[in-house]
Amino acid sequence: MDGGIDDALALILALRSPEIEVAGITAVSGNVPVEQAAINALRVVELLERPDVWVAEGLARPLARDPIRAFNFHGRDGLGDSNLPQPKLRPTAKTALNAMSETLTSAKKHEVTIICTGPLTNLASLLIESPHVKSRIEEIVVMGGAYGITKYGVGNETPVAEFNIYSDPEAAKIVFEAEIRLKTVGLDVTTIPQLELVKRDYARIKKSRGKASMFATRILETNIRAHGRFTLHDPMAVAAKIRPSLYKFSDCRVTVETKGEYTTGMTVADRRDLKEDQLQGRPVMMCSDVDPGFKRFFLDRLN
Ligand code: BDR
Ligand code: CA
Repeated sequence: MDGGIDDALALILALRSPEIEVAGITAVSGNVPVEQAAINALRVVELLERPDVWVAEGLARPLARDPIRAFNFHGRDGLGDSNLPQPKLRPTAKTALNAMSETLTSAKKHEVTIICTGPLTNLASLLIESPHVKSRIEEIVVMGGAYGITKYGVGNETPVAEFNIYSDPEAAKIVFEAEIRLKTVGLDVTTIPQLELVKRDYARIKKSRGKASMFATRILETNIRAHGRFTLHDPMAVAAKIRPSLYKFSDCRVTVETKGEYTTGMTVADRRDLKEDQLQGRPVMMCSDVDPGFKRFFLDRLN
């Protein structure tokens, strides 16, 4: 995760969901620098009293480019400039790659799912450095990409590229080509208007006095005030694992553009009506629709 507001909400959802066990978290450079992303993960872990869940600092830079930030949207602190106290918990002394590699090495075959809610730098580096861990991964769920399969599937960082993929397209290419089962939850679905938090939802969160709701109220405040709504990109990737019945996936081939003059970071979906072996790109299970019940599910878990 890369320390943004929706990353924090995604982590709350994950830690509040008995259907999954969170093995650990790696922070990555993205919305904010990696140190801040780790602090924000620790804030959530501390809030929900889960010091057993390790948080590791990952890579401070994309594989081949300068980092891009999203301070305008997520605030300098990544959490809406909410002035939250510093967490007492510290990141593990292990590097993110070592922490992930250890967790995966001690897991059974196909036991672990990796949910990515930031640029794919950490995961790509792990797959290159420790390819033996691949067999332990059941699947990878990526919040990222814009595939043109709904009318909302256009870029948010450039006309055609989504932020997480655009931030480190070389890493995304490695992950998409890794031959591990890959599910994508892209802007095509995360920006469907009925799935966004609106003022009425915010009022409901604000009314609840639970600690997760109070935290969410604080980190969402500036965005709700400025835009009247908030898009739940990252929680939607987590919920794909917890409530798959709310999701529709379709098989598609995808290529990640790394060299385009105008199209770097584009996730090129081959939607042509051709035979399987004539299509371009790697097979991906692409989310094509999410039931509006997602929002109720998310709000209930926050309570
Ligand atoms: C993605 O970009 C980040 O700003 C959000 O946290 C989310 O992961 C959406 O494009
Ligand atoms: Ca994110």
